[in-house]
Amino acid sequence: MSGLEACLFDLDGVIVDTAKYHFIAWRQLADELGFVFTERDNERLKGVSRQRSLDILLEVGGLSLSEDAKAKLAAKKNGIYLDYIRKMTPDEILPGAQEFLWEFKAAGLKTALATASKNSALILDLLKIRPLFDVVVDGNKVSRTKPDPEVFLKCAEELGVEPKRCVVFEDAEAGIEAALAAGMFSVGIGDPAILKKAHIVAPGLGGISLEEVVLAFDPGKDRA
Ligand code: G6P
Ligand code: MG
Repeated sequence: MSGLEACLFDLDGVIVDTAKYHFIAWRQLADELGFVFTERDNERLKGVSRQRSLDILLEVGGLSLSEDAKAKLAAKKNGIYLDYIRKMTPDEILPGAQEFLWEFKAAGLKTALATASKNSALILDLLKIRPLFDVVVDGNKVSRTKPDPEVFLKCAEELGVEPKRCVVFEDAEAGIEAALAAGMFSVGIGDPAILKKAHIVAPGLGGISLEEVVLAFDPGKDRA
């Protein structure tokens, strides 16, 4: 199939609508710290680890805090986030995502979840979607956050597939940069004005077919 062997999916904002809860939780923290945090600011937090997200948030607010204070704030944010997550139902799986993944698996392609989140096991269990993935690499398994390619390269390694045979589905600018740095084909999920560096962009997994991905995936392209 045109050299495509594996599909790597980001979690938050691609498979499930948790990106909004991350934003609500960070914004609540910013409110309490006394500054405004906008959706535009939030784009910089997508795909990056909790610690790095907090650093960016504090930069937006012009604040500099001790490591101890930062650890407390990161734990507080996660508490707010988990209060939302624990109430989630499979309805919050994004439209078309499950069907799309089963279509890939039925076509003999390997699938992986590639996320910076340390809460992925809980989310996969709550939504009963663990069987969709042959491999899961999350924030507990990697030390460098996107845009570093580590999470995607680890998926390729665990799947036993060359990076250039992988396609990545990502809603974050940092995630697209990580996919490109890994030498992979990238499909941006969301707004083309934001995901400019992606090879192609779709509004959601429900808005793109396996056939379109296979056609766009160009094995002749000189990726690393
Ligand atoms: C994903 C999200 C980020 C989030 C990160 C860590 O990459 O896009 O917004 O900060 O995971 O998530 P966690 O659940 O570990 O706080
Ligand atoms: Mg995401």
